Amino acid sequence: MSNFDKINLILKLEKKEEILYHNAMCGIFGYIGEKNTLQICLKGLKQLEYRGYDSAGIAGIKNNNLIFCKTSGKIFALEKKIEKQNLELDIAIAHTRWATHGKPDEKNAHPHFDTHLSLGVVHNGIIENYAILKDFLKNKNIKFSTETDTEVIAQLISYNYEKYKNNLYLTVHESLKLLKGSFAIALIHKDHPNIILAAARESPLAIGFIDNKNEILISSDPNAFIGHNLNVFYLRNDEIALLSKKSIKTYTNQKKLIEKKTSLLEGKNQTFSKEGFDHFLLKEIFEQPITIQKAMLGNISEDFGTAYFEGLKFSSTELMAIKHIIIIACGTSWHAAYIGASLLEDKARILTTAEIASEFRFKNPIISEETLIIAISQSGETADTLSAVKEAKAKGAKILGICNVKNSTLTREAHSCIYLNAGPEISVCSSKAFTSQITILSLFTLLMARLRHFTKEDGQKFLSELKKIPKIINQVLEKQKEIKKISIKYSKYKNFFFIGRKYMYASCLEAALKLKEISYLNATSYPAGELKHGPIALINKNLPVIAFCSNKQTYDKTLNNLMELKAREAPILAIAPNNAKEILQIADDIIFIPNTIDELAIFPTTIVGQLFAYNIAKAIGIKDIDQPRNLAKSVTVE
Ligand code: M6R
Repeated sequence: MSNFDKINLILKLEKKEEILYHNAMCGIFGYIGEKNTLQICLKGLKQLEYRGYDSAGIAGIKNNNLIFCKTSGKIFALEKKIEKQNLELDIAIAHTRWATHGKPDEKNAHPHFDTHLSLGVVHNGIIENYAILKDFLKNKNIKFSTETDTEVIAQLISYNYEKYKNNLYLTVHESLKLLKGSFAIALIHKDHPNIILAAARESPLAIGFIDNKNEILISSDPNAFIGHNLNVFYLRNDEIALLSKKSIKTYTNQKKLIEKKTSLLEGKNQTFSKEGFDHFLLKEIFEQPITIQKAMLGNISEDFGTAYFEGLKFSSTELMAIKHIIIIACGTSWHAAYIGASLLEDKARILTTAEIASEFRFKNPIISEETLIIAISQSGETADTLSAVKEAKAKGAKILGICNVKNSTLTREAHSCIYLNAGPEISVCSSKAFTSQITILSLFTLLMARLRHFTKEDGQKFLSELKKIPKIINQVLEKQKEIKKISIKYSKYKNFFFIGRKYMYASCLEAALKLKEISYLNATSYPAGELKHGPIALINKNLPVIAFCSNKQTYDKTLNNLMELKAREAPILAIAPNNAKEILQIADDIIFIPNTIDELAIFPTTIVGQLFAYNIAKAIGIKDIDQPRNLAKSVTVE
């Protein structure tokens, strides 16, 4: 039995592997060309910084030697170390790692190598059967020096290299067949000093090149190509690309040489600036009156009281046939999904549910030809959402993506896509993407309602309220000083309850998540009516309740709930519409906000929630507000 047969046999065993350490949400960058390799790679890595990471590294070939430099911490630390080492490289692969399991230290940072330091690999994704492969290789006396799954790829390829007579492509092709899981990899080998080998399975990897192929760039995120005008293509389904100056050869998983379709990417140099704000988050919060207008731009017909979307490839007949909508998303995007589901059911009268993407694919969901799946993702790279989309597609569903990042995986997987046009969101904690998502969902609801029972006048009325939102948000932003003062007062507490009813429950979910993410304080959200069913047991004078009271339909009931809390000495901060004077008798503090219709009250209340979280984080001295600990911008593992 050959070694491969043995490994294959092991793979078939129904053993449940325990994944101890792996790398995720990472960024890959690689360069072949005549310019300064190090500078280009570092610039590429910096473009990936927004995703969140905790270590970085680079490896390349110089004079037939494999040389590398790795650090824990940020890219500037890597830059300094590179300078100290006087590093020079001809071709290089580089990486930002975001650790999910295992320490974010230098040893576990990518690239990873085989024992002989003959090859180096950077990797995004998870090798699910890495423990089995590691055991197999250890039994062959191969010594491992890290806890990562990625090192298994390096050691496995090195182990097989001789067997395939030093044919790098063939070795990688055969070795990848033994891997279970998802990956995007870039690999260099000192015997092949001019080649970078790239491969991908269910994890994005883009390759960009200039016309004469004198320059080739690789990245897990084409946003890192900024500053270069390139022809770009993506690897998928175990495709392998052999890249060297002037030559790009791409093979299918059947070893067939193929020509990949490319698209032109004009990577105009783009610098991200805080524009005088202390943090990108604050800048992005203040951008919202504009980003909401951008989400509406070109999508509205006032004459007909409806919405149009250029990117929507479904015909009116197809849209009219939809009887069931499932919205899938994660985190903040799921909060938008929750609002979208309420809107679609309430206004368009379509049975709609919001599903958490990581749960959805395990539910054996009921999908018929009358079902539409809407997948919402700011980044378009969230693994849970993408897997849910694949599951829905496998069941024959039509997929509509709502996404901010052009050319992201979701935009390619969905049958049709509506863009947020909110511009890059740099802060890991999402703000402007959320309000743009709600804007698009409001407009989509309007379109679906108009295709059903909404009259032109109903539509025009809704549009006129929606068009007031940017102005209303400006009025809330003008309250920044007042909100800051109140936030400072509440920053002494360690635990918070956020409550609200109907549309305001989504405000609570989002406001509580913001507070958790950037201030590291415990915040829990409840529909206000639920408190008496258990959580009220926790109420005392040290547990403030932040109450969102901007839903007219449920206003009186929310006040009753507040009375119950006041009786138990909870400090109460209410966010209420300007005319809600009754609240003065109940709440300790009130932030009054402009009136709007119930369906759109989520906009002003969200801004208050964002500013409250931001100001508390500042007040308690959190430094890394734009890149909170443990978080990543694109969550590319399930
Ligand atoms: O890129 P996506 O919208 O798919 O991301 C989903 C979540 O990971 C994201 O919204 C996350 O919850 C943010 N950190 C929230 O601020």
